[in-house]
Amino acid sequence: MHQLPVEGLADAQAAMQQMSRMLDDLRALYAQRNAALREARRAQQDAMLRLALAAESRDGDTGRHLLTMGFCSEQFALCLGLPPGYARQLRLAAPLHDVGKIAIPDAVLKKAGPLDPQERLTMNAHTTQGAALLADACSDLMRLAAEIALTHHERWDGTGYPHGLAGEDIPLSGRIVAVVDFFDALTMDRCYRKAFTIEQALEQLRAQAGKSFDPQLCECFERHLDRLASVRAYVDRHRLQLTDLIDHEPCI
Ligand SMILES: [Fe+2]
Ligand SMILES: [Fe+2]
Repeated sequence: MHQLPVEGLADAQAAMQQMSRMLDDLRALYAQRNAALREARRAQQDAMLRLALAAESRDGDTGRHLLTMGFCSEQFALCLGLPPGYARQLRLAAPLHDVGKIAIPDAVLKKAGPLDPQERLTMNAHTTQGAALLADACSDLMRLAAEIALTHHERWDGTGYPHGLAGEDIPLSGRIVAVVDFFDALTMDRCYRKAFTIEQALEQLRAQAGKSFDPQLCECFERHLDRLASVRAYVDRHRLQLTDLIDHEPCI
């Protein structure tokens, strides 16, 4: 068998070692690049959630509603058989549904009594204000948040706002968040009333199926009620924080 001369063998080994070092360097660079990308993505998501918290705290909320909105919208999307990647995006985007409230004057946002027609119009503009705030976003996540901000008060029967969209013309994200928001609001204590029980809230949801909400979504929500209604208890039990919306696994 043909054999390399001794110097030739040494050269080949040196070349192999150099190649191996270059590969190690490339691997390290690749890992560093991925870590930097992950960090940039986390920073963007963190900033988005803090913007949501800024808007929500003007309304006197501590962020608990944002957590439930995020985790429950994700669970609901999973119950609907939507892809886990989309469900996770929804977890991060749903908390921004009311981000437009940041632009609503205190005199309207914090008014104790009922709103007059002009004030009602101002309040309803939190949908378009939120969408404008997130407009021309450079990420799919932000675009989803803008879609939700704009459409979460549209109604299945076409009598919602801001555009009076009806049925499946309302983006699915807006239809999902509308149901979750309604249920979470009803089952929370308010300064003017005690929280509804799960059964009472379910009655209200049934009554709005085909009116405010997509009837198929209402039916799915009811079928998975135990799982969906326990999200808030999970959030409390595990003392989840805003950043858990970025890092945590799906609840339950
Ligand atoms: Fe809203
Ligand atoms: Fe809400």
